[in-house]
Amino acid sequence: MVEVINEGEPRAWSSGLRPLLEPEEIRRRVAELGREITADYRGRELTALVVLKGSFVFAADLLRGIDLTSKVEFIGLRSYGSRTSTSGVVEITLDAKYPLVDRHVLIIEDIVDTGLTLSFLRDNLATRLPASIRLAALLHKPARTIRPVPIDYLGFTIPDEFVVGYGLDHDGRYRNLPGIALLDDPAQLRLFEKDGRGSVD
Ligand code: PRP
Repeated sequence: MVEVINEGEPRAWSSGLRPLLEPEEIRRRVAELGREITADYRGRELTALVVLKGSFVFAADLLRGIDLTSKVEFIGLRSYGSRTSTSGVVEITLDAKYPLVDRHVLIIEDIVDTGLTLSFLRDNLATRLPASIRLAALLHKPARTIRPVPIDYLGFTIPDEFVVGYGLDHDGRYRNLPGIALLDDPAQLRLFEKDGRGSVD
């Protein structure tokens, strides 16, 4: 088991956050997903496609729970819109280094919200002629669905609230929380948006 430093202790900068998913609960579910993926892909080589930035923590834990010969690629996506919602116009900011043709591609994503980002990605990947495309998502917010996307491996369904931690951010912050929390005080969002340091997400 991987030890996370000070995992159970409140963090000095984390006031205003309400825990939603504890690190242990996430660890158990991610391990289950790893076992499920291992069984489903038995005999095939996997290419994990990690969607940056938010998925880096989930991907690191999930991949270590998958007992298969695998390759890992990264893709960076940016969707235009406000800080708390996407417009559906998606730009690739970093592309996979190697072709995905004939590969069994498993997209690893932290959250499916409106579904617009993943819908774009699936359409884009289909043009690269992979052998298969599946999606592993840690979180799904069904209340905000605009374009439904099939999630083959889902960690948790969550309510329509702004969540941070375990890779997910607000304006670049909170990605290093070991669990997932709700931003308690909407005033905090306004405070950060006015702090003059610009977006660092
Ligand atoms: C998040 C998440 C997805 C997208 C989901 O990325 O990682 O890519 O939003 O939203 P959607 O279903 O409404 O399209 P974000 O834009 O926050 O970027 P980040 O991963 O770099 O934090």
